[in-house]
Amino acid sequence: MLQQNTVRVAIIGATAYTSREAIRLLLNHPRVQITALCSRRDPQPAIEDIFPEFAGRLTMTCEPINPSALKGRADVALLCLPNGLAMGLVPDLLAAGLRVIDFSADYRLKEPADYAQWYNKQHTDLANLESAAYGLPELFRQKIRDARVVANPGCYPTAASLGIVPLLRQHLIDPHEIIVNAASGISGAGREPKPEHHFPERHENFEAYKIGDHRHQIEIERTCDGHVPRGKSQVLFVPHLIPMERGILCTMYLKPLQPISLEHVQQVFAEAYANDPFIRLRRYPPRTAEVARTNFCDLTARVAKGRIIVLAAIDNMVKGAAGQAVQNLNLMFGLDERTGLM
Ligand SMILES: NC(=O)c1ccc[n+]([C@@H]2O[C@H](COP(=O)([O-])OP(=O)(O)OC[C@H]3O[C@@H](n4cnc5c(N)ncnc54)[C@H](OP(=O)(O)O)[C@@H]3O)[C@@H](O)[C@H]2O)c1
Repeated sequence: MLQQNTVRVAIIGATAYTSREAIRLLLNHPRVQITALCSRRDPQPAIEDIFPEFAGRLTMTCEPINPSALKGRADVALLCLPNGLAMGLVPDLLAAGLRVIDFSADYRLKEPADYAQWYNKQHTDLANLESAAYGLPELFRQKIRDARVVANPGCYPTAASLGIVPLLRQHLIDPHEIIVNAASGISGAGREPKPEHHFPERHENFEAYKIGDHRHQIEIERTCDGHVPRGKSQVLFVPHLIPMERGILCTMYLKPLQPISLEHVQQVFAEAYANDPFIRLRRYPPRTAEVARTNFCDLTARVAKGRIIVLAAIDNMVKGAAGQAVQNLNLMFGLDERTGLM
């Protein structure tokens, strides 16, 4: 029996890594009930057969992905699907009365031409693309509250944007000289097995990939652009894979427009994030172990050799995906942003 004011959640792509993380968080959320788990699999699995840790905690069998079957049964859908699928489902989910939090990139880039260029597909849902909110609460809280579609940001862009935007907003750094160097645990690549992610390839191995042409580079740029008065930002992004299960450490090299002290930089961050419960400003370099399985983003800054260096650590599957989605859900349904996440 559902309590009044309970938010009913459907998860689509229930067998995904990010779904597992969402289920883990939602089972501890006092105001949410998971009412549907949807998958393309046939036969449909019991969720405990996919994720045995939920045995005894969530007894549910998945059902086919059918938006109209969710009408009246769910208030919001979390879409944990590969890029390119959400835009085919969102119009029908909205028509069935649900709001949507999409984990993929389908609603993140406002310009359809950007999406076509970086995702090799034409966008098919331009109306909802235009009205979707970019789900980074620390920067876009107000828009998220009222949105019917929230584009949950990418994991790297979450860490990078949180480290860059406060300085950009105050016009303290050169928007054309932004370098982002980041490393992610392997869960960032999802559950689908790929040869390059097998244990022998990744164990004791640390390497860069997609240097200067990762899809998250344009996403970071477009978020920065909103804070550049004239023209556009330029971001050089170099991602790495590190042999850990989860976690992102992002190092940003930023060029101040005027000489600046560390105290000034720290003051900018302190003021920018004074009311943000998930941003922790640390004196020491952030560590992925300290944010693992939490929704925190730990940030530290330094000034050296004429550059501002900002470091950010998040858990790619929590603040970088499912935790951020729950934070967005809380905002969308008028709950305290921290509910179920502290
Ligand atoms: N992993 C992260 O850290 C992370 C962080 C931020 C954002 N994201 C984004 O979140 C989304 C999910 O990522 P993930 O890492 O959780 O993915 P994943 O573990 O690889 O799971 C993908 C899910 O999509 C389903 N699926 C694949 N192709 C499908 C199709 N054609 N029709 C219907 N369902 C299909 C899979 O179902 P089967 O079980 O049937 O294969 C599986 O449930 C992606 O867009 C990803 O970019 C991921």
